[in-house]
Formats: sequence, structure tokens, C-alpha cells
Amino acid sequence: MAIPIEREQWQSRLGFMLAASGSAVGLGNIWRFPWLTGENGGGTFLFTYLILIFTIGLSVLMAEFALGRASQRDVVGAYETIGSKKWSWVGYVSVLTGLLIMSFYCVVGGWTLSYAFRAGMGQLAGDDAEVLQTIFSTFTASSLEPVFWQLLFIVLTVYVVMRGISSGIERWSRILMPILLVLLVGLAIWVLFLPGAWEGVKYMFLPDFSKFTPSMLVTALSQALFSLSVGMGAMITYGSYLKQQENLPRAALAVTALDTFVALVAGLLILPAVFAFGYSLDGGPGLAFVTLPAIFSGLPGALVLSTAFFLLLAIAALTSAVSILEVAVAWVHSQVSVSRQKSALLVGVIVTIMGVPVSLSFGIWQDVTLVGLNLFELADGLSGKIMLPVGALALAIFVGWIVWPRIRDEVLQGSEGSAATVRVWGFICRYIAPPAIVVILVAGLIS
Ligand code: PHE
Repeated sequence: MAIPIEREQWQSRLGFMLAASGSAVGLGNIWRFPWLTGENGGGTFLFTYLILIFTIGLSVLMAEFALGRASQRDVVGAYETIGSKKWSWVGYVSVLTGLLIMSFYCVVGGWTLSYAFRAGMGQLAGDDAEVLQTIFSTFTASSLEPVFWQLLFIVLTVYVVMRGISSGIERWSRILMPILLVLLVGLAIWVLFLPGAWEGVKYMFLPDFSKFTPSMLVTALSQALFSLSVGMGAMITYGSYLKQQENLPRAALAVTALDTFVALVAGLLILPAVFAFGYSLDGGPGLAFVTLPAIFSGLPGALVLSTAFFLLLAIAALTSAVSILEVAVAWVHSQVSVSRQKSALLVGVIVTIMGVPVSLSFGIWQDVTLVGLNLFELADGLSGKIMLPVGALALAIFVGWIVWPRIRDEVLQGSEGSAATVRVWGFICRYIAPPAIVVILVAGLIS
């Protein structure tokens, strides 16, 4: 195994927290969560999601931070140095999962950039449901335009990764993330006063357990892992740039709480709007992109506000994309003796080659299918519903059973006094997460 020459470190505790939150909070919260909650029965899905994210999700997140910090290596190196060569396959699967996620994440990242531009040009005005739906479908079904924006999004991501984790990633989120949050909360409050909106709130929060299905369960697990950026090594990689003093349980809890809060606010913005404007709950991946412009057209200063919003959303997506790309880049960088810059470029090219067909699957390649799924559905489903759960399963077994004392001590460093928390966490990693993930995966696959 090649030993990396020099590794960077976060410049401050705040820097690490910003980067980890920046990774967690992204399209997963604002685009994917409302869409999946809408499609999977509202309250029942939310309820399942909350349980999964605060048990399995949080535990896996803590384990990833600890494994990263203990090893000071990229994802493959982490499994090898703390475990053994036998475990490196988990690292390789993680790198692949990251590439697969990037292949569709950048498509949607491109949509946000394009919508920022359109909003600025005044092309999204009008709250007619049908018009906004047509704008979205026409745009995503065309070939050149979405690919152009997707490429721009990839270039921006590669650029930030090339500049290195501390100067590149840390700086971005500092001012922009709080602004996005304030905007989201403000908009959600406004939406709640629209006639009909309350139906959406009820739909989101009132569970109806007759709607419970095994496939909903695996979707909720997939979303919990995706939203926390765990199961594919992003948080291992970010943890590996940590110095020793961070309180890992506290950091993991803070990231999970913030991530959940943003998802809830985004849900409270988009689902009530669906009811108020008469959209359909199964709007699929387009849901956010038709409801958000509809919300803005009712507001004073819509032009400025919607442009700013989509730009901030693009930046939130960017800080997540950076963390996905970083997994592969850190690995390439430590393997081959090429610079971080060249590694980032190389991974960027791979992601482009994988991603363009995914964008085209909304248009000319929509008939290219495998097992009835188009390329977008395949990339999203395979990475989220199979590879992330498998990654999380392997990690829980690895940490809970194979290297437990080493990782437990790692977490206790910097969090003296959390012995009880650590015991609960160990229990979840050993006895709860592995069987639960297996059951959910199997139930999802056979349903
Ligand atoms: N958590 C990110 C989001 O919610 C997406 C992501 C998935 C990032 C996996 C890293 C790893 O948008």
C-alpha cells in the first residue's frame, strides 16, 4: 500500500463541522427527501425515517468519523490499516458507490444551476402548475442544455476539490449555509399560510400505518444513509483529516440533528405547497423543481429571491458533491503518485463519462432500461438502496465486531465522560444495525 506523502488537516474544529454538515446537507434534504416522503405515504415514511436516522444513521456516522480519524487514511486505506487487507473490498465498493452517486447527483446539481439562471432571467414566473411542469420536463428531456449545466457543476466541484480540503471546502459554507437555512425557514412559514397548505402538514406528520410496505422501509433506510453521507466513506475521508481533539459523539449528533432539521423544513416547504398549488404527490425527481418556482411566483421580489435561493441550493449541492468526489480523489491520490490536482481531474473525467448518459435518460435515452429502470433510476436505486446499505452493514460489523476496542478507544479520546453513550453506540453497531439492515435489504429486494 502506498503511504500518502503529506495529508491535510482541518484548520479548526469549526472547519470540520462546517465541512461535515456541508456534506450532509444538500440535495438529499431539499430535493430527495420531500420527493420520497411525498411518494411513500408521508407520515409513515417520516416516522420510519426518523427512527432509522437516529439509530443506524447516527451510529454509522460516528463509526465513520472514528475510523477515519483512527486511520488517517482514505477509505480503502482505513479498512486496511485498522483492519486488514481482507477488508479493503469495502473501501473499493465505497469508491464505486461514490462514483455512481456522482453520476446522478451532478445531473440534479446542474438543474439547480440552470434554475438559478432561469429564475434570474425571469423565465420561471407564473404559478400555473401545468406551465411549470412543462418547463421542467422540456428542459430535462432536451439533450444539450442539462448536460451543459451538469458539466458546469462538475467543473465547479472538481475545482473546489483541486484546491484542497482546507482552503477549498472549509471556506465555502461559512456564510452561505446559514443564509440558505434562514431562507428555507422563512419560505416554509410563508407557505404554511397558503390556503390548503395544512393538508400537506397533516400528510407529512400523521402516520397511517396501513401504508407501511417493505419497499418503503428500504427507501427510508436509503434516504437516511444518503442524507447523512454515510455508507460510502465520505465521512471516513473527512474524519481522516481530523486532529485528535474533536468530540466525535457530539459532532455526529450535531450533524444528524442539523441534517434532519433541514430535511423537515424542506418537507414543510414543499409538501404543503403541493397541496396548496394542486400538484401531484408522486411528482418524482421533478417535485422540488415544479413546486419551488410556484412558491416564488406568489412572492414579492420573486426574481431576486428565487435566483438567490437556487444559487444557494446549488452551493449546498456543491459542498455535498465535493465530499462525494473527495472519496475517490483521496484514494487515487494515495495510490498513484500523482498530485491531488491531477487525481481530481481524473475522477472528474470518469464522473462526466458516467454522468452524461444519466442526464440523457430523461430525454433521448429514456428507453434505455434494465430491469424496467432507466439509467437515472438505476444509478439512484443501486447506489441508494443496495450499495449504501451494504456499505453501512459492512462498517457496522467491522467496527462492532472486528476492531471494536480500537475504535471505542478512538471515540473516547476527546469525549471522556461519554462512556454510557459509547456503550449504547457499541450495542447498536453490534446487535441492532447489522440484523436490521439485513432484514430491510432482504425485505426490499424480495418485495
Ligand atoms: N448527503 C448528501 C445530500 O444530502 C449527499 C451525499 C451522499 C453526500 C453520499 C456524500 C455521500 O445531499
